[in-house]
Amino acid sequence: MKGTLITFEGSEGCGKSTQIELVCRYLRKKNKPILFVREPGGVKISEKVRNVLLDIRNAKMGSECETLLYMAARAQLVKEVIAPALKKGKIVLCDRFLDSTIAYQGYGNGVDIKAIERIGRFATQDIRPKMTFFFDIDAKKGLSRIQGRKKDRIERRTISYHNRVRQGYIQIARREPGRVKLINADQPKEEIFNIVKGHIDRLLKLR
Ligand SMILES: Nc1ncnc2c1ncn2[C@@H]1O[C@H](COP(=O)(O)OP(=O)(O)O)[C@@H](O)[C@H]1O
Ligand SMILES: [Mg+2]
Repeated sequence: MKGTLITFEGSEGCGKSTQIELVCRYLRKKNKPILFVREPGGVKISEKVRNVLLDIRNAKMGSECETLLYMAARAQLVKEVIAPALKKGKIVLCDRFLDSTIAYQGYGNGVDIKAIERIGRFATQDIRPKMTFFFDIDAKKGLSRIQGRKKDRIERRTISYHNRVRQGYIQIARREPGRVKLINADQPKEEIFNIVKGHIDRLLKLR
């Protein structure tokens, strides 16, 4: 694949959307061909699956079903949008990707991580991010940033759940330090962006 997939990870309120927006603006200014997508969702079918996943009425949903629905949404997004864009040589910026399922369903809910990785390869056509930003923040602090928002089914889970997710992300970053950049998200947006920009410049050879 000619293009570059860059993903943004971390718990709710860590600043993914904020940083993606800044990166988009930066790369547009440099006339780079970019595409921004979010997970779960991004295309019609996956947005429908998203609604099922985040609906607080689906309290009965088991962790296996939850895992497979995230994968289903991802598979459709990859097939319809991500894979074609990468073939065309675009820079694809994705708000969440397979690491989210490993962190939330694997580390957070105890789903077998090897199984998630196996199904993940199937769902993503084995497309992997060239670089992943993990914005690390204390679970409580992250959630307090989004206090005003209406909480979805996942965001409503306990603090100890969100702490397990955070520890999961830390493990992922430890295992793959080349790909996953762990950034302290408890600092001003501008400083975080400077770090992000440095990595992107190096990856895309912009400097
Ligand atoms: N570095 C930061 N310091 C303080 N507040 C931030 C920072 N980055 C983002 N925010 C604010 O926190 C909230 C959540 O940020 P957002 O980018 O939406 O996070 P996410 O997409 O990861 O849920 C927003 O109101 C945003 O303006
Ligand atoms: Mg967001």
